[in-house]
Amino acid sequence: MSHIRACIFDLDGVLVDTAVYHYRAWKRLANELGFDFTEDDNEKLKGISRVQSLELILGWGGVEKTPAEKLELATRKNTWYVEMIQAMTPEEILPGAKEFLAEVKAAGLKSALGSASKNSGLILERTGLLSFFDVIIDGNVVSASKPDPQVFLKGAEALQIPPNQCVVFEDAVAGVEAARAGGMKVVGIGSPEILRDADVVVNGLSGFRVNMLDAM
Ligand code: G6P
Ligand code: MG
Repeated sequence: MSHIRACIFDLDGVLVDTAVYHYRAWKRLANELGFDFTEDDNEKLKGISRVQSLELILGWGGVEKTPAEKLELATRKNTWYVEMIQAMTPEEILPGAKEFLAEVKAAGLKSALGSASKNSGLILERTGLLSFFDVIIDGNVVSASKPDPQVFLKGAEALQIPPNQCVVFEDAVAGVEAARAGGMKVVGIGSPEILRDADVVVNGLSGFRVNMLDAM
């Protein structure tokens, strides 16, 4: 029997394929400002807040903006992003994610969302995933972004499960760090070369089973 009693899921890149929409919208913004950034750079944007992403991108382009201009740029990016996610369907749930969420529920484990996104409600609603979660912690209720563990600790607290009995599913380096800083186990979703600090790394949730948590 596993000692794990709760699963905390990142959203973008773990349950749904929105990472590509974030990338497209940020790239469009950078291009309008007269520069570009690489897919490698894009890795650094995963898991961090909208405002912090903008700061990094402006730094890459060597562009300086006033606080009011930054607000306008972040809003512009989000408008394009929301246009894309509004058209999302359950087809865009990543392979195996819905099945795994159902298995977690059937096994009597608790589930929380632990995302930096302020758009998580819309995405969960569009994809029909909302009912799988006991607790939603997202960018609307956290004040410190990953790699700060706040988002996951709030999730554990709301579920009333100690952090060491929680496992986090994450695709971002910042998210893996956040989970570790919170004293939680981490399943990395992606490449072992990038997610070096995860306890295990898989390339997606298809094929991942609740009984694999026993070994963690
Ligand atoms: C997730 C994504 C990040 C994104 C952040 C904020 O963590 O991985 O790339 O910047 O959410 O998303 P939002 O929808 O609030 O702009
Ligand atoms: Mg993510």
